[in-house]
Amino acid sequence: MITLSSSTKKQREIPYSKSPSLIQQISFVLDPITYLETEVVRLGEVFWAYAPMRAIIAASPEAIRQVFAKGDDTFGIVDNASAKFILGGEGSIGLVSGEEHIRQRQVLGPAFRGEHLKACSELVCQVTRGLLNGKRKIVMEEVAQTVSVASILSLTFGSIEGERYQMIAREFTSQIEIIESPLKALQLFVPLLRFFSGSWGKWQRSRKIFFEEVAAETRERRQAGMSDRGDILSLLIKEGEPDNRIYSQVMTLLYAGRESTAYTLAWILYWVCTMPIVRHKLLAEIDSGEDYMSLPYLDAVIKEALRIYPPAFIFGPRVTKVPFKLLDWELEPGTVVFPCPYLIHHRKEIYPEPKTFRPERFLERQFTPYEYLPFGGGHRTCIAMALALFELKLAIGTILSEYNVELADKRPVRAVRRGAVLGPERYELLVERR
Ligand code: HEM
Repeated sequence: MITLSSSTKKQREIPYSKSPSLIQQISFVLDPITYLETEVVRLGEVFWAYAPMRAIIAASPEAIRQVFAKGDDTFGIVDNASAKFILGGEGSIGLVSGEEHIRQRQVLGPAFRGEHLKACSELVCQVTRGLLNGKRKIVMEEVAQTVSVASILSLTFGSIEGERYQMIAREFTSQIEIIESPLKALQLFVPLLRFFSGSWGKWQRSRKIFFEEVAAETRERRQAGMSDRGDILSLLIKEGEPDNRIYSQVMTLLYAGRESTAYTLAWILYWVCTMPIVRHKLLAEIDSGEDYMSLPYLDAVIKEALRIYPPAFIFGPRVTKVPFKLLDWELEPGTVVFPCPYLIHHRKEIYPEPKTFRPERFLERQFTPYEYLPFGGGHRTCIAMALALFELKLAIGTILSEYNVELADKRPVRAVRRGAVLGPERYELLVERR
């Protein structure tokens, strides 16, 4: 039995917008940043929104601290049919909770540590060079996505040599295209639209091939007794995971990792090209010959890129299972809360001039895990944070030490919704060997 203190307010007293819910939903889908920034100014750091479901947006470090401090006893996962569909079933690490979630993190965790990352490093440099060599003009995000998929596949399968891995990468890429376009993605929610769309059939075919290839690889490894290679597939086989869960996990890692890392890399090169002082400082460090992993300015540039436009600009919805006190408000069970790192990262009192790209802020002071949270927090923190940072450092170091890069078009690049995440508009780079 919960007794409300005199300072506790009911959840219906949380500020909310008077705009019609449909308008809010459309604004959130089409231009989430303008929507969230407008509402936070009007309503304050905790407010009701339609994003696109009715939910509380938490944009205060203290509110985030309170949410992250609680586990699955307090917050559950919103049952999301389209996420299950995209990720190939219910077994994905992103969709399970409680004991099963802890177990899956324990199974997958070792693959994202130490020696496995090192094994991936040569590959990242090799793939990056292969994509840039001999080219004059490149679409930055395509290069970044290819590097990102190669590193995830290498960690998952232990290798990317051979037709099978290329096929898996190709079929995954063609599946993700449907999520990228808001109009095509509507088919996930409105099944009737699938009858009128050629892309649906294409998507289904891609999924089938992707699944068959992952299944064939799993079968061959099981038959050959290959379960001790340390890659993710081997770990899952060793754990006795069924095929459908293996498929779902591989799909989840690709979805979770490809865009976020690729867009961050694309942003960093954009900032380098538009800010001569950043380029100058970064090159001085990279050309020093020190290990890329120990360069403070490079680290600060990556942190600042993830601050200003965190790909996961809003985290997955958490739904209260029990009454929960958020700041002064008593939330009822069944209330959906979205922690919003984008709004936290743009608070002026934490980050003066928040719209300015200024890596030095990360050299001047430390931020708490509730002030700076591009990789999430609590028990759902990104499992691949070390991999993502490692890969970004290697890719930037390789590109800037070996090539001169310039924007092909000097127009500013905006941050836009790219599927479920935030990314730069597509842009081109001119590349030339240094
Ligand atoms: C710059 C790159 C990345 C960023 C900014 C990022 C960000 C995040 C964030 C914010 C979360 C938590 C979401 C939430 O709490 O709702 C998360 C979870 C996750 N990320 Fe990442 N991520 C990145 C790269 C990757 C990569 C490369 C992979 C896989 C290879 C990956 C796999 C995952 C998985 C599996 C989860 C779910 C963890 C769980 O539920 O326990 N991420 N990521």
